[in-house]
Amino acid sequence: MDHMFDGYGMLSSFKLDGRNNFATGSHRFIDSAAWQHYAATGKMRWREFATAPRYESLGDRLSDVASTLGGVLGLAQGVTDNASVNVVPLPDGTAVALTETVQGTYRVDPDTLQTLGQVQYSKSGVKGDLTTAHPALLADGDLINLVSAVGVGFNVYRHPAGAFEQRQLIATVPHRRPLAPAWVHDFPATQTYAVVPEMPLYFNVGKLLLGGTSDYIFMDWAPSDGTTLHVVDLRDGRRRSYRAPACFVFHWGNAFESPDGRYLHLDACLYEDPEIVNDLYLRHLRAEYQPGRQAGRAFLRRATIDLQAPDGSEVSWRPLVEDEAEMSPPFDFPKVNPLYRGKPYRYLYGACSTRPTNAHNSVAKFDVEQGSLEVWHEAGTLVGEPVFVPAPEATAEDDGVVMVVLVQADGSSALVVLDGKSLEEVARCRVPYQLTIGFHGTFLPSSS
Ligand SMILES: [Fe+2]
Repeated sequence: MDHMFDGYGMLSSFKLDGRNNFATGSHRFIDSAAWQHYAATGKMRWREFATAPRYESLGDRLSDVASTLGGVLGLAQGVTDNASVNVVPLPDGTAVALTETVQGTYRVDPDTLQTLGQVQYSKSGVKGDLTTAHPALLADGDLINLVSAVGVGFNVYRHPAGAFEQRQLIATVPHRRPLAPAWVHDFPATQTYAVVPEMPLYFNVGKLLLGGTSDYIFMDWAPSDGTTLHVVDLRDGRRRSYRAPACFVFHWGNAFESPDGRYLHLDACLYEDPEIVNDLYLRHLRAEYQPGRQAGRAFLRRATIDLQAPDGSEVSWRPLVEDEAEMSPPFDFPKVNPLYRGKPYRYLYGACSTRPTNAHNSVAKFDVEQGSLEVWHEAGTLVGEPVFVPAPEATAEDDGVVMVVLVQADGSSALVVLDGKSLEEVARCRVPYQLTIGFHGTFLPSSS
């Protein structure tokens, strides 16, 4: 594999038994067809994000192009189903593991980490192949997601609470470039609005099918297009589109409306260009630290949309940290208290880097009202995504804990529990083996 996004998906879990002060750790590969093929043959069957199968002959290559085309046309599985990006709990106690292909959506059992089966959506007219692994959970339990259909646009749809396999189309947002969908990894949403952030990083479908690299893996960067923020009203599917400067965003921290409903605030972990995508090639991650060389770096910025402004109005990005160039460490994986998702909020947590490394080895807590931040850091560790869990009887937004997986230089791993207010360590459970660095995580309360 050539890139951090390419490995086969594995679920890791820590199970905490507070009554007996006991913890267990476990991990298991997602039993996708991509993983099964690799496990049986030692070879890739489908291309991952930045690594393509090595073909032994032109015939092999052509047959793979035909198979990918077949997948795009819905005739066969032509793209990977490696559900390696995110895991989302569902109301029935199961969870779904996801990647950005529709095929790569698997139901899993959070208790045993067993793969239960590939999600088969009911026929609903929601077409498209490239989705996001970040469905947005609304306060009423519905999930919103989008899928890109080449030549059509972004189809924004709803999974009604408790009926994940049902997809209800809400709106179709045409792509700015009909044959080159923009890459959308995540999007902001409230109970009323979902925003499709159409940034100028476009899939190059030819390179994706035929191989070869473009500016960023198989994508083209065209900053002169700027960013279009399409605000979709989830009640009736109506849309208004606003123009913002070019940017690249993996993850949106939060979104919320002003009390009078006139303004929509969107908080992003915002990169000024997509250089981070190339920085995550393994050859760059393994390279010796070069003083002065900085990996792509995101800042916490807010766009405020006046929902009464006409279609096409300009929106700008505003820093949420004072003197951000000096004060804000490189960070990503923004998470807020889940009870404040889609609502006015004050605190945002994220994984960040304490220099000299570019890798995430610290946890940041941003105070977006004060424009300040605090950092927890421990030498000799890398961190996964911090997850905020509110205290059962919480009275304040930051009353709770932050759970984060550590991968440690001595070959062990740990789950560390930090106080949500002070970031002081409250508890730690160690496992005597090394977990791999993961992407996203989630907290599930025990049912018993
Ligand atoms: Fe993500």
